[in-house]
Amino acid sequence: MQAVQFETHGDRDVLEYGEFPDPEIDRDEVLVDVKAGALNHLDIWTRRGLPGVNLDMPHIPGSDAAGVVEAVGEDVTQFESGDRVCVIAGKSGGNDEFSRKGDLTLAPDFHIIGEHIRGVHSEYAALPAANLASVPEGIDWEMAAAAPLVFQTAWRMLRDRGGLKSGESVLVLGASGGVGHAAVQVAAHAGAEVFATASTDEKLAYAEEVGADHTINYEEADFASEIRELTDGRGVDIVVDHVGAQTWQSSLKSLVKGGRVVTCGATTGGNPETDLNRIFWNQLSVIGSTMATPGQAEEALEHVWDGTFEPRIRETLPMSEISRAHEMLENRKGFGKVVVVPDSEL
Ligand SMILES: NC(=O)c1ccc[n+]([C@@H]2O[C@H](COP(=O)([O-])OP(=O)(O)OC[C@H]3O[C@@H](n4cnc5c(N)ncnc54)[C@H](OP(=O)(O)O)[C@@H]3O)[C@@H](O)[C@H]2O)c1
Repeated sequence: MQAVQFETHGDRDVLEYGEFPDPEIDRDEVLVDVKAGALNHLDIWTRRGLPGVNLDMPHIPGSDAAGVVEAVGEDVTQFESGDRVCVIAGKSGGNDEFSRKGDLTLAPDFHIIGEHIRGVHSEYAALPAANLASVPEGIDWEMAAAAPLVFQTAWRMLRDRGGLKSGESVLVLGASGGVGHAAVQVAAHAGAEVFATASTDEKLAYAEEVGADHTINYEEADFASEIRELTDGRGVDIVVDHVGAQTWQSSLKSLVKGGRVVTCGATTGGNPETDLNRIFWNQLSVIGSTMATPGQAEEALEHVWDGTFEPRIRETLPMSEISRAHEMLENRKGFGKVVVVPDSEL
């Protein structure tokens, strides 16, 4: 089969699209004929190399994809050939107390398809049945590939970890990115007043389209001061921060007393200076969140399938242009998700 792959970590020039041995399925696995995949910032981190993660090389990246079931292993009962499916990338061995209690994201061996093990930016992928969800007829492949990782992440961040209630106010940073544009939609749907930041007015116009009530171009204004002004000095109840070092202090400054900052990422660095005085005096909560349980992922996806949430597609590219796809994320071009399609499907 043809697959995106890299033999060593590095810049975009390590990426290739070429021959790779066809995957074989185990008893509990499903062979998926991939119709589309989508990029996440994780694909950039994985390509560059993450501390403590030793990949089998060559590595196929990619955590999001959707396609048609081609074959199933003998223990698989929930899917059959011809079914439409998408990937739910979080995985654990399932034998520890956290997995048994239903939260596999807390399992000591929690890991992610594409980050720690072979991913799905390829013509075919062999995946455990537990890592697939059904895609209804009528949902196009780009949408089915683009939605799962970011909508499950935003859903858990706000609903489960952040405890968002209707009527609260939420500031979403990096609202033009995959997680950001999903978080705007999840917050708006929950009945929140949504504030969104991005680096250009064009991106902010899209953020409004998907549900932001107020937008701030952080290249032109200090977003924490803007938030004070827009909230009559109060601050917001929740900040969604996946940007990291560059925004951390301003995120804390944007919160009302008793507010919560929920973080799932550190695109600009993971070791910001922080302000402990502000955290204890204002009684702020700093909450981490990662991916979602399969149940939370499926709840989020139900809202995609019924049209409540909509992943926006920046551009759809052939997998052979994977380098350009990575470049769009690295250089912050566009709004929403970048989709890649096996060249044989075009
Ligand atoms: N823990 C988890 O489960 C989880 C899940 C998903 C993602 N993440 C993490 O969350 C982060 C966002 O992921 P994503 O897939 O949504 O990424 P993405 O689509 O590339 O979006 C990142 C956004 O961050 C904003 N940004 C602000 N400053 C930036 C800078 N200096 N460099 C790059 N972007 C900057 C950009 O918007 P503007 O240009 O408008 O500022 C961009 O749209 C990543 O670090 C990712 O690893 C974690």
